[in-house]
Amino acid sequence: MCGIVGYLGDKPSEYIILNGLKKLEYRGYDSSGLSILTNNGDILTEKEIGKIVNLENLIFKNDISQYHSKCGIGHTRWATHGEPSKENAHPHTDCTNSISVVHNGIIENYSSLKDDLINKGHKFLSKTDTEVIPHILEDFIKEEKDILKALDRTLSHLKGAFALGILIKNSNPSLIGVKKGSPLILGIGEGEFFLASDVTAFLDYTNRVIFLQENDIVLVDKSGYSIFNNCKKIIRKEEVIRWNSSQAQKGGFKHYMLKEIFEQPEALYNSIIDKVNFEEKSIIFDEFDTEFKNFLKEDIKIVISACGTSWHSSLIGKFLIESMSSIPVEVDYSSEFRYRNRKLSKKTLIIAVSQSGETADTLEAIKRYKGDNKILSICNVVGSSIPRESDFTIYTHAGPEISVASTKAFTTQVIIFYTLANYIGRLRDEITEEIWVDNIETLKNFSKLVQDTLKTNSYINKISPELAKYSDFLYIGRGINYPVALEGALKLKEISYIHAEGYPAGEMKHGPLALIDENFPSVVLLPKDRLYEKMIANLNEIRSRRGKTIIVTDEDNIEELNNYSEIIIKIPSINEFLQPILITIALQLLSYHIADFKGCDIDQPRNLAKSVTVE
Ligand code: M6R
Repeated sequence: MCGIVGYLGDKPSEYIILNGLKKLEYRGYDSSGLSILTNNGDILTEKEIGKIVNLENLIFKNDISQYHSKCGIGHTRWATHGEPSKENAHPHTDCTNSISVVHNGIIENYSSLKDDLINKGHKFLSKTDTEVIPHILEDFIKEEKDILKALDRTLSHLKGAFALGILIKNSNPSLIGVKKGSPLILGIGEGEFFLASDVTAFLDYTNRVIFLQENDIVLVDKSGYSIFNNCKKIIRKEEVIRWNSSQAQKGGFKHYMLKEIFEQPEALYNSIIDKVNFEEKSIIFDEFDTEFKNFLKEDIKIVISACGTSWHSSLIGKFLIESMSSIPVEVDYSSEFRYRNRKLSKKTLIIAVSQSGETADTLEAIKRYKGDNKILSICNVVGSSIPRESDFTIYTHAGPEISVASTKAFTTQVIIFYTLANYIGRLRDEITEEIWVDNIETLKNFSKLVQDTLKTNSYINKISPELAKYSDFLYIGRGINYPVALEGALKLKEISYIHAEGYPAGEMKHGPLALIDENFPSVVLLPKDRLYEKMIANLNEIRSRRGKTIIVTDEDNIEELNNYSEIIIKIPSINEFLQPILITIALQLLSYHIADFKGCDIDQPRNLAKSVTVE
């Protein structure tokens, strides 16, 4: 849940680390800190609560550039053990201030380790689980000449999933990274090296990377780096990242969220272009082998496991797969699925859906069934943990999503489900040639329709100030748009702190209608589909209780709808299966502008973090 940065090179380390931490602020932002090796060889640590800018001000005030440091580590925190405070902020050091550690993840057995260390005379300053690490290492460094052996013995005492950045005084190497369960990436520049939880931290300097693998330890010094696994030196493949650093910046938009909403035409196109051949009217998944393709033709079931927004896209995925094939699909929250006492038949395919690929509950859910069941993941972050635990992965290619509120990740997941559902339906001979061709054709101009949907931005901006005064909203939809109502409500509550609920419109009379009065507006998802008349009936129910309505529709006859609402968001029309994407984009903009009018911290809403790497 936190962000780690490490640097060794020729540049002022505090500058590189701060720059990296700013890029990682989305991973956690309740406090931050850094440790540098000074020109005297000492470790100097600075910490501050709140955002990275507070740490930056502190460092400026204390003028740490006077130490001409070329090596250091930094951390941005999202509290798990101990409240956000200077004491609990990372880095944490040992008793002699010779070892400094930054940590992402959880040390599950820290409490008993801490008791043992205190009994041996170690002094602790924080309430964190992290602080045991420098103290254990301190003892083993005294006993072992070889730093690798000392590290290995330290790691053998730690239970949990984590990544570490370590700085050691009077040692060559002085910068160390450890990956065990949480992401850690090595960046390789010209005579300089970086460690980070996410490549965005160092993309300003290099795009050459190594995604460290489970139990890797990387030792970095001026002459280069060495990677060890189980104390054996190994070679890991270097990769080149295609995202440039400006892709990970706000690009002129006021917030990352708005930028990411506007990136959707391209993100959606990128997500399918390597799969769909418009000329040949074919869909190819190079990710699958022949055995898996044959498996998809069998009498199978699918269970989809996901959290939050990814859970909503999975509900749409269920609708799509069940519409185009006879495969029954269940969707479960990963946090429930992982603890359910359930034996799945071998003929059950598990699909894990995650933007980050690091969500702890989804990761644990698939680990539980790995080996017994085939696991397919749909993921946005290449090389992240969930793909590595999966048999097959379809990447969404949405590019980096920085804003905590997920936008382009959701719509790209939906388009992948659309492509996959068509593919499975065709493979099983369960959709006709005519529908198949029509569904592929529909994708051809889709980016243009997404662009047209984004034109609603100025209208939505105009209507939002008036809507921002309400404290509750209901979102209703039917069929494939019921999950869209859930997603619209989640987006509003997450970034504007306004209470919102999503409901299937047919449930109104079974309870929610009691809420409706002039102070409780409803966002009504009204595509001109086979359930249109049913939705009009729901609109009437709301209007006759003096409820305010906001309609999102592709219906051209706006005149008719004027009788039901003064606020109508008109979006383009497309087939029933892709309409959720266009409706969602309008709802993303609605949440964004309401939250912006309220002056909320849109990209980093209170109490939330971008990737939830702890349960
Ligand atoms: O990275 P994941 O897709 O696994 O994340 C799952 C949820 O934490 C995430 O979608 C969350 O609900 C978003 N903040 C919603 O905008």
